[in-house]
Amino acid sequence: DDLERLAAEIDRDATVVALTGAGISAPSGVPTFRGDDGVWDRFDEGQFTYGRFQRDPDGFWADRIELQQAMFGDDYEPNAAHDALAAMSREGYLDAILTQNTDGLHEDAADTVGDSDDDATILELHGNARRVRCVDCGKRRDGDPIFERAAEGERPPTCDCGGIYKPDVVLFGEQLPGAAIQRARSLAQESDVFLAIGSSLVVEPAASLPRQAASSGATVGVVNLESTPVDDVADVIQREDVTETVPRLRELLS
Ligand code: OAD
Repeated sequence: DDLERLAAEIDRDATVVALTGAGISAPSGVPTFRGDDGVWDRFDEGQFTYGRFQRDPDGFWADRIELQQAMFGDDYEPNAAHDALAAMSREGYLDAILTQNTDGLHEDAADTVGDSDDDATILELHGNARRVRCVDCGKRRDGDPIFERAAEGERPPTCDCGGIYKPDVVLFGEQLPGAAIQRARSLAQESDVFLAIGSSLVVEPAASLPRQAASSGATVGVVNLESTPVDDVADVIQREDVTETVPRLRELLS
């Protein structure tokens, strides 16, 4: 079938890159952004921009505490799809994971299988919501105690240096780190197989990566419950739950 065709393209010599979005973490209980019950249904996207953070950091933090609770308030852990990608990486089949997710679950899944030189590079394109970063001195810290301080009324929470903390994520209206975008683009262009897994593929720059991969000759696979704007360049489309498809793909490799 189609997945077997895709698996046949994946061997240890091929450059294989996976791009993931909120759909891969949905089965872990982390809500997606778009669609029914998506967080942008319940929250106003416009309140979480970089401009708002700069103009009204107090109000931004008040809203961000609620968003953080809605997204990451319940315990969550990697699911079979994260685990299968971590295993593929360990087995030398996967070279990079580019993720738009800020939940840290790819790192968690990689930690569970242990460290190895073969491990795929994990690029968190939108940052990591478990951390905060001081906008002045740049120091990064575990986010939990800072979110607690903000919840108790320290808004905006500040660093020892006096600078304001920002969740260590890329906000709307904020530039992605140039080096990360560059790296993601080169990986897409170098890839022999490019897998887009659980993303609506509507937010740049991630949205254009599958097309770039396709125009450089990669075989493109899309795994999503719904159609996506890049389906026209996809060689294989699996309209299925990530926890079904990704483990099945991995099994086909061994
Ligand atoms: P979206 O919420 O836009 O899209 C999630 C996609 O996953 C949808 O296309 C769903 O059909 C699909 N999906 C959901 N559950 C699935 C499942 N179990 N199996 C397969 N597919 C499933 O999330 P992203 O594409 O990640 O940006 O959104 C991109 C960016 O927009 C986010 O990183 C965030 C958001 O605004 C920032 O915060 C900067």
